[in-house]
Amino acid sequence: MQVIIVTDYEEMSDRAAGIVTEAVRRKPDVVLGLATGSTPEGLYAKLVQAHKEDGLDFSRVVTFNLDEYVDLPPDHPQGYRYFMNEHLFNHVNIDVANTHVPDGRAECLSSQCERYEQMIRDAGGIELQVLGIGRDGHVAFNEPGTSLGSGTHITALTRETIEDNSRFFDSPDDVPRFAITMGIGSILQARRCIFMATGANKADAVKAALEGPVTATVTASALQMHPDTVAIVDEAAAAKLDLLDFYRWQQDNWDRIADRL
Ligand code: F6R
Repeated sequence: MQVIIVTDYEEMSDRAAGIVTEAVRRKPDVVLGLATGSTPEGLYAKLVQAHKEDGLDFSRVVTFNLDEYVDLPPDHPQGYRYFMNEHLFNHVNIDVANTHVPDGRAECLSSQCERYEQMIRDAGGIELQVLGIGRDGHVAFNEPGTSLGSGTHITALTRETIEDNSRFFDSPDDVPRFAITMGIGSILQARRCIFMATGANKADAVKAALEGPVTATVTASALQMHPDTVAIVDEAAAAKLDLLDFYRWQQDNWDRIADRL
């Protein structure tokens, strides 16, 4: 894994936007895997800016979101379809038919999970997956204990995740208890991943994910097994990493040969 330490949220969003922008320019029909939450908001704002100011073309881009709450109405402001529309899709020239978010209101949730996996396969798989991390070390909604080989599945959210996400709802009681999420196995099949983390409240999770043992207790740790992941972590979130100096040193050296990579 390549670990890039950045100063702050702004620089993290910039670096991530640079990678996504380049992927879209190189392959206009690229298949992107997208996350929601506070972490990628800055990235999406920068993609919107790149579209408006530099004409970044999303007309053939295909997207799959990682997860969605079960049973929120489609127009609910905390639903992830709504989030994506607000932060990205409504502001770029993407074809809405090419954007996919799991359907948390499906009559049969398990067939929805199978269908979602099939749609990703039919699209040729995810080329570039954007990821954040929860305080309990989850990626997507793969809570502690989830199989590291899991495909898209239904999950119950932990108390910690419900508490964290209650900031977006009127009260913790309003946070859905269940979600559909791509599994760790699904995420590991993406050809490239960008993992982003920001803020001191993520420092323990980042330490466990990047330097701890690979374990279902911290599902983000499975990214250590992924052959092409770049972790973009701001100073506050990186504060507990043992290899912090090494990552910085390595990054300086990489930058010297960047034009030959
Ligand atoms: C959401 C997702 C989650 C978030 C995580 C962090 O699609 O995949 O794993 O990335 O809960 O959320 P924020 O960014 O709000 O701290």
